[in-house]
Amino acid sequence: MKGELRYEGKAKKVFATDRPDEYVVEYKDDATAFNAQKRGTVAGKGAVNNAITAALYPRLEAAGVPTHFLERLSDREQRVRAVEIVPVEVVVRNVAAGSFSKRLGLTEGAPLARPVVEYYYKSDVLGDPLINDDTAVVMGWASEEDLATIRTLALRVRDFLTPFFEERGVQLVDFKLEFGKTPGGQIVLADEISPDTCRFWDARTGEKLDKDRFRRDLGGVEDAYQEMLRRVLGEPAGA
Ligand code: TMP
Ligand code: ASP
Repeated sequence: MKGELRYEGKAKKVFATDRPDEYVVEYKDDATAFNAQKRGTVAGKGAVNNAITAALYPRLEAAGVPTHFLERLSDREQRVRAVEIVPVEVVVRNVAAGSFSKRLGLTEGAPLARPVVEYYYKSDVLGDPLINDDTAVVMGWASEEDLATIRTLALRVRDFLTPFFEERGVQLVDFKLEFGKTPGGQIVLADEISPDTCRFWDARTGEKLDKDRFRRDLGGVEDAYQEMLRRVLGEPAGA
């Protein structure tokens, strides 16, 4: 049962339920970029992101990553554990791209010798600035212990997802995660994993199959999201 609206973000709404320990998340078609300076809608995006997240989170649980996900309720809705979001966005990079390439003067697609984990402070007002672990601890956003757990889990997500997408003809370039804390103090993976929050490049052609099509006005945004849903739901190559 959906109760009062608890939180509205750029791409999702979170509702209270009749249980204090559960929320309902509703995925919207709204898309923003560059801290909401660019706004639009992507038809069917909410349903795609809901379905992809609902397909991935149980697999991540099985791979040893606790998550907030409980079940997909409808096209746009899912039931999740009520957690308090840690205001630190965690980006994991397999390959240089996006802001990392820009900041360091690297070609997009340049390989990295090992995955890079970055932290950003989740703040619309400040435009999600890059921070480090000391900053998160000093500001009281996460304890040192929580950050160690978050880093371990983020790399575990990467170790699961990289071959998962590779088997489906997709290079996982980088992605952003958010974690939450349960009332009992457990750190769990929250938010979503979708073409909004990952860079996906077709392994054969290099074609972008993610939100960069919207950010960079490349066209074909809806088709790219639908293609990623097909890849995720499809059988791995050779299976
Ligand atoms: P970046 O290269 O722009 O820092 O993005 C790194 C990854 O994080 C990329 O997969 C897209 C994702 N991301 C979000 O999910 N939300 C954001 O607000 C930004 C800037 C990036
Ligand atoms: N989070 C960005 C925004 O605030 C969107 C993005 O680039 O993914 O608009």
